[in-house]
Amino acid sequence: MDELSRIHEACAYIRSICALPVEIGVVLGSGLGGFTDHVVIDKEIPYRDIPNFPVSTVEGHEGKLILGKMCAKNIIVMAGRFHYYEGYSPVEVVFPIRVLSLLGVKELLLSNAAGGVNPSFKVGDLMVIRDHISFGIINPLLGKNIDELGPRFPDMSEPYASERIRQGKAIASELGIDLKQGVYYGVTGPTFETRAEYKLIYNLGADAVGMSTVQEVIAAVHCGMKVFAISVITDLGIRDEENIITHQEVLDAANAAAPKLTAVFKNLIEKL
Ligand code: HPA
Repeated sequence: MDELSRIHEACAYIRSICALPVEIGVVLGSGLGGFTDHVVIDKEIPYRDIPNFPVSTVEGHEGKLILGKMCAKNIIVMAGRFHYYEGYSPVEVVFPIRVLSLLGVKELLLSNAAGGVNPSFKVGDLMVIRDHISFGIINPLLGKNIDELGPRFPDMSEPYASERIRQGKAIASELGIDLKQGVYYGVTGPTFETRAEYKLIYNLGADAVGMSTVQEVIAAVHCGMKVFAISVITDLGIRDEENIITHQEVLDAANAAAPKLTAVFKNLIEKL
């Protein structure tokens, strides 16, 4: 079966469970699952039940689609995402994004945990992603283009919608949340970076680094979605002192920052 048919098959299954029309999609990163407490849930669909869906393996990623309402808007939430470092191909990583697109999603909100390389950042800061650098990942659009989804050579001059960034910043300011803004550097992981790599990433023009999001955003832009994304800075890569980074530390920092992120997403969804 070709990739487009596989995507259609997953969509047909999801529609058979829940016919709610959805235009807003949300992707939750490590430790940020608390967002779903604010969703009035209509249906939860475990990834393992959906034809052709990959299954999440990482601790802190729940692995289900949630369909429901937030601020009177229908939304579909990916609680758990797929990472290249888990062994999925780039095409598998973006499979759910394409499913969301064919289900009708036009606006995609993503969150992730990221290492800060901008020296002004602190652990627990939120950073709205204004742009990304994809040289450290494998482009998910390599191979035959699926013309039904989007063009062969997609424009990437504004992968993160400037109007959404403006709205996100205004919301954060109203809520008294210090929302940083910056460039996200995508890497494959699963190793955290060496000191030399963190320094290089900063010198290349990035403010934060992480192992997700960029492939999803490329696929989303290819499908014509508007994207808004926030990183939670869970660790700092450029300190000179002893600086061992653990997955637990990343999850703890993401959990602690989740209420701020939820508030920004919720208020933005209200305005969409
Ligand atoms: N590097 C890469 N990915 C990450 C980091 C990091 O320091 N923190 C959370 N995800």
